[in-house]
Amino acid sequence: MGRSVCIHFGVMKPIVLSLALAFAAAVASGQVAPKPPSTPAKAVPDWLFPIDPVWAERQKKRNLPPLPPLDDKEPLGIPGSTEKFTAARIGDPFNAPDWYPAEHGPLPDLVLKGRKPTMMSCGFCHTPTGQGRPENSSLAGLSENYIRQQLKDFRSGARKPVGPKEYIPSLTMHTVAEAMKDADIDETARYFAPLKLARRVQVIESLRIPRAEPSHWIYVEVGGTEDLGDRMLEVTNEIERHERRDPKLQYTAYVPPGAIGRGKRLVTTGDGKTVACASCHGTNLKGMNDVPPIAGRSPTYLLRQMFAFKHGLRTSEAGKQMLPTVEKLETNDMIDIVAYVGTLYP
Ligand code: HEC
Ligand code: HEC
Repeated sequence: MGRSVCIHFGVMKPIVLSLALAFAAAVASGQVAPKPPSTPAKAVPDWLFPIDPVWAERQKKRNLPPLPPLDDKEPLGIPGSTEKFTAARIGDPFNAPDWYPAEHGPLPDLVLKGRKPTMMSCGFCHTPTGQGRPENSSLAGLSENYIRQQLKDFRSGARKPVGPKEYIPSLTMHTVAEAMKDADIDETARYFAPLKLARRVQVIESLRIPRAEPSHWIYVEVGGTEDLGDRMLEVTNEIERHERRDPKLQYTAYVPPGAIGRGKRLVTTGDGKTVACASCHGTNLKGMNDVPPIAGRSPTYLLRQMFAFKHGLRTSEAGKQMLPTVEKLETNDMIDIVAYVGTLYP
């Protein structure tokens, strides 16, 4: 790992590195307070939770010098938006970059800025248009009641962080929810529910894939190729756009050959191992009543949640309905399922 991390930093541009450090700084300064792990050890595969190497290094070497401040002069952009923000602004977890202000209604202050010290802004992670990123979750298109209930479940502990204790994005979501009052929950649920989710992921079956390394809590292509094996990796080859929090960046999910077809059979018939999903998630899996839509969402997010149900991390009344669905599924079945679901239109 040491060697590949060096190669990886060799190709990173300074701005990208400094944004990773900004998030690490928020964690280190206690703005983000990690809690003890709730996921049983070894219950989830390591590859499903890429740990940011910069953050990991700083955890190991506590006496490293303080992080340099992010640049606050040079205006930066993304393709398709006329907005400009500096690196310091983009990396500020209490002032999310709003690249497409015309594509959403009036932004509640909580979505844009959150509330110091522990409620980082929703828009910083989920983006102001609710499209989300592979290391968190899309919120656009979820029902208002569903969003409200999930926030209450995070707050009460009925929904626990998925992943190892080093996976800061999941832990931070729980810290945020713990700081939310009922009125905050209502306001943010009302804001995100009417937004429309766009298709962001292309699912590709392959034995060999571009070599990918953890960076910024996701995977980034680093040159060369490797065997995919029994994994599903969602990657970007545009880490700079990812780190500028571009809500329209497309990701690629690599899955084993045949996964999409096998997944389709499991999803539509149950195939003796599971329950056909449309009976609860609605036609084309676009959601029904307050059962959430799953079509076309990040396969990383979906797979993590399948594990969460399987290992009792989502124990609300609604969460228990998922148990018969996941009970008999092996990891490769769940990969097949999320591969297929990822190909559908949201
Ligand atoms: C540090 C990044 C971060 C911030 C800030 C954040 N979230 Fe999250 N959110 C996540 C992650 C990661 C998950 C998935 C957590 C898990 O399952 O363990 C998540 C999950 C959710 C979910 C569940 C989605 C689903 O489909 O079940 C909701 C709802 C949500 N967040 C709402 C919010 C709201 C509202 C705010 C602002 C008050 C917010 N989040 C702030 C990272 C974040
Ligand atoms: C008996 C009804 C039922 C069936 C069948 C069912 N689900 Fe669910 N599913 C639910 C409910 C209810 C929730 C919301 C749980 C909660 O609120 O915690 C859910 C949530 C989920 C989530 C989490 C979504 C999110 O936003 O966090 C995923 C992923 C999921 N289901 C996948 C599937 C798949 C794949 C299938 C078919 C193989 C399936 N479900 C079949 C009822 C069902």
